[in-house]
Parts: sequence; structure tokens; C-alpha cells
Amino acid sequence: MIIDGKAVAERIRKEIAAEVEQMVQQHNLRPGLATVLVGTDPASQTYVSMKRKACAEAGIESFGHELSADSSQDYVLGVVRELNADPRVHGILVQLPLPKHIDEEAILNAISIQKDVDGFHPLNIGRLSMKGRDPLFMPCTPLGCMVLLEEVGAKFDGANAVVLGRSNIVGLPAAMMLLKRNATVSIVHSRSKDPAAMCREADILIAAVGRPHMVKGDWIKPGALVIDVGVNRIDDPSRKSGYRLVGDVDYEAAKDVAGAITPVPGGVGPMTIAMLLQNTLRAAKMTLPVNA
Ligand code: GUN
Repeated sequence: MIIDGKAVAERIRKEIAAEVEQMVQQHNLRPGLATVLVGTDPASQTYVSMKRKACAEAGIESFGHELSADSSQDYVLGVVRELNADPRVHGILVQLPLPKHIDEEAILNAISIQKDVDGFHPLNIGRLSMKGRDPLFMPCTPLGCMVLLEEVGAKFDGANAVVLGRSNIVGLPAAMMLLKRNATVSIVHSRSKDPAAMCREADILIAAVGRPHMVKGDWIKPGALVIDVGVNRIDDPSRKSGYRLVGDVDYEAAKDVAGAITPVPGGVGPMTIAMLLQNTLRAAKMTLPVNA
């Protein structure tokens, strides 16, 4: 089975648009997302513009802040603090990575947890990691992975789940989400002894390492649910652009072994944006009086 992330994301985005309209009608409140982009990294520019376009389509107002690459840390902190205080802004997204001279932790720490729609604030990550605690927001990409797994009827309780990669943005929070759902979670990373053997045990496999086709067909347990977060460019002279995008999983080999698998593109990617819109809508809802 192919997991059509694009279709799931479109359905969610439509539901969000309807809820946004209702919020505007009933409460005269339009959700707002502020994006902060420091520098001119082309991939980051593309991601931010895709996020803002998706906001517009869902009726969410977006406030774009583009800062020069040499902005001081204090200046970026000042922007974040202004956005914390701006009642039109319900969610704040600081696009990562930040330029090297800026302390990412200090910036993420400064975002109001009520507006932390990326779920990267240490308090939200801490709560995600602890038993019996719940974050206000969870990071969008791993959250999108979990929604896709639910979509194909994943049974998390007691399942062997393997997360390939331990990034703060995907691997680590994905592992915490799986653990919260009572999966037996292993994190495989660059120092792991036998990644292939670990992956072969996985009923649920989330690959998020950024290495094209690292996961071979014979790394997949027959019937496993495979979520491929990788977005890697590889040369392809047959394309006009000269490249194409492939995942961390050798899709052609894996699709015949896996019970379900996400394609790249069209799998996890569209879900990240849908989850961001969902978090922003929730952030706006949280500002309404209780029981409104
Ligand atoms: N860089 C790569 N993924 C993300 C994301 O989900 N959010 C932000 N803010 N930056 C990113």
C-alpha cells in the first residue's frame, strides 16, 4: 500500500480552512502565523514561502519577517519578543537552521510556549519526553508521520518501532511520540553497530537521516509500515532540472516488502505543512475564552 501523504494533507487542510472560517464568523478571530527567516538559504526560502502560501489558502494570516544573514542575536531576539506581544500573531515559526553566529537554543527559548507552533521550545520538547506530561505543541514533521501511521491503522502498543536518525527536528521527537504511544522504540544513528539488523526488526520504521536510498529492500521486515522523511537530491540527467528527489529508503525495492510506505515526494512533506496549520489553528483557539 502506498501512503498518499499529499491526499491526507489536502483533506486536513480543507478541514482547517473550514474551521478557520467558522472561527472568523463566530469569534471574529483570524489565526495568524509569523514566519522568521534569517538569511537567504534557498531551501529555507522555499519552505517558508510554501508555508505562507498554505496559510493563505487556509485563511490564516501570515506575517513574514525576513532578516539579513548578519542580523545580531539580540536583533533576532527582539523580533521574537515583539511577535510574542503581538495579539494578531498566534504562532511563531523561526525557520531552521539559523546562521552559525546565532544561538539556536536562545532563540527557541525566547518563543512564548503558547505560540510555539513548531514545538521546539525546550519546555514543549521536555514535556513530550516525559511520562504523564503533554506538550502544548509537537513538532510538525514527526507529528505528520504519526498521523500517516494512524491513517494506515498502525498498532503502536508493543510494536517494534525503529527511528533512523536523531535530529532535534525529526528523529528525536518522533521517537518520543512513538514511546508515548507505548511502542518499543530504538533509535538508530551514525554510531549504531548494525543498522540493517535493527531495521529488520521494525514493525514501524521512520527514516530521517538525509542519506539517499540508505535503507535497502532487505532491511525491511515484510509487512512493516515505512515512513520516509528523507528529501535528497540526486543527479538525474534525464530531467530538465538535472536532479530528482529521493528518500532515505530505496522505494522501488522496499515497496514490495513493506505493508505500507510513503513515497518521496508526496509522502511526509505535505504533512509537515498541514500540521503547522493545525498547530496554528490550535494556538488561536487557545486564546479564546474557555468554552467559547
Ligand atoms: N527546518 C527544517 N524543518 C523545519 C521545521 O519543521 N520547522 C522549522 N522552523 N525549521 C525547519
